[in-house]
Amino acid sequence: MNSPLLTVSGLAKRYRRGGKTIAAVDDVSFAIEPGETLALAGPSGSGKSTIARLVLRLIEPDAGRIQFEGDDFLALSGSALRARRARLQMVFQDPLAAFNPRATVARLLDDPLRIHGIASRAERPRRIAALLERVGLNADLAPRAIHEISGGQRQRIAIARAIATNPSLIVLDEAVSALDVSVRGDILNLLLDLQAKERIAYLFISHDLGVVRAIAHRVVILDAGRIAESGDARAVIGAPQSAIGKALVMATPKLHRTTAS
Ligand SMILES: Nc1ncnc2c1ncn2[C@@H]1O[C@H](COP(=O)(O)OP(=O)(O)OP(=O)(O)O)[C@@H](O)[C@H]1O
Ligand SMILES: [Mg+2]
Repeated sequence: MNSPLLTVSGLAKRYRRGGKTIAAVDDVSFAIEPGETLALAGPSGSGKSTIARLVLRLIEPDAGRIQFEGDDFLALSGSALRARRARLQMVFQDPLAAFNPRATVARLLDDPLRIHGIASRAERPRRIAALLERVGLNADLAPRAIHEISGGQRQRIAIARAIATNPSLIVLDEAVSALDVSVRGDILNLLLDLQAKERIAYLFISHDLGVVRAIAHRVVILDAGRIAESGDARAVIGAPQSAIGKALVMATPKLHRTTAS
C-alpha cells in the first residue's frame, strides 16, 4: 500500500559537446512519497533541470528506471502515457516563455480541461473560475492576456493549470526564483496550502537553500550530475556533510542568521 509515488533509479543522461561527453546526470536514485516535497538543490549545471526533464519524459535517459504510480513510466506510450501525464504536471520559472504570452488566462486553463477530457465545454467556464479561486485569484482575471498580469499572478496561473488535471506530483523548476521576496513567500504558502488540502507531492528544484528549507521535507544535493548527499531538509541544511553542501550553505547568508536562533 505504502509504496513511493515516484521512484527514480540509476538515472543517467549524457550530452556530447565539442567532441567531449559530459554526464549531465550520473547514476541518480531517489523516491518521493505521496504528499511529500523532495527538493533538488545544487549549483548551476549540476543536473537539476535535466532530472526534471527526464522525470517529465520531455527527454529520454541513457540509463535508469522511473516508476510512477506503480507503472514503469518509461515503458508507457499512447493513451496510457497520456492518461498518466495528467497526474504528473510541471511549473517552470518563466510562464511567459512556457506559454503563449498573448493567450488569455481562460485559454490557458481551458487547455488541460479540454485536452484531458476533464470537463464538457458547457462546464469549463465554471471549472476555470473554481481553479482561479483555488490559487487565490479573482475570476475576473479570466479574459486577461497573461502578458498583462503580474509575475506573481502569472505563476499562480501556472499552478492553476498544473492542478487542473488533478495531479499527484508537480515538478517545479525554479518556480519561485524570479519572484520578489514577498511574492515568493505568497507562492510558497499557496504551494504548502495546496499540498495540505490535496496531498500533492512536489519535486521542487531550487538553487536557494532558504527556499528549500521553507518548503521541502527532504533534499537531494547534486554536484556535477551526481548525488553529493541527501536527507531531511532541515538536518542537511543545518549540518551539511558534503563539500558542495557546505559551500551552498555558506553561499546563503540568511540561513546562518535563522539557524542560529
Ligand atoms: N540539451 C543539452 N545539450 C548539451 N548539454 C546540455 C543540455 N542540457 C543540459 N546540458 C548540460 O548538462 C549539465 C546540466 O545542466 P542542467 O540544465 O540540468 O543544470 P541545472 O542544475 O539545472 O543548472 P541551473 O541551476 O543553471 O539551471 C550542464 O553542464 C549543461 O550544460
Ligand atoms: Mg536548471
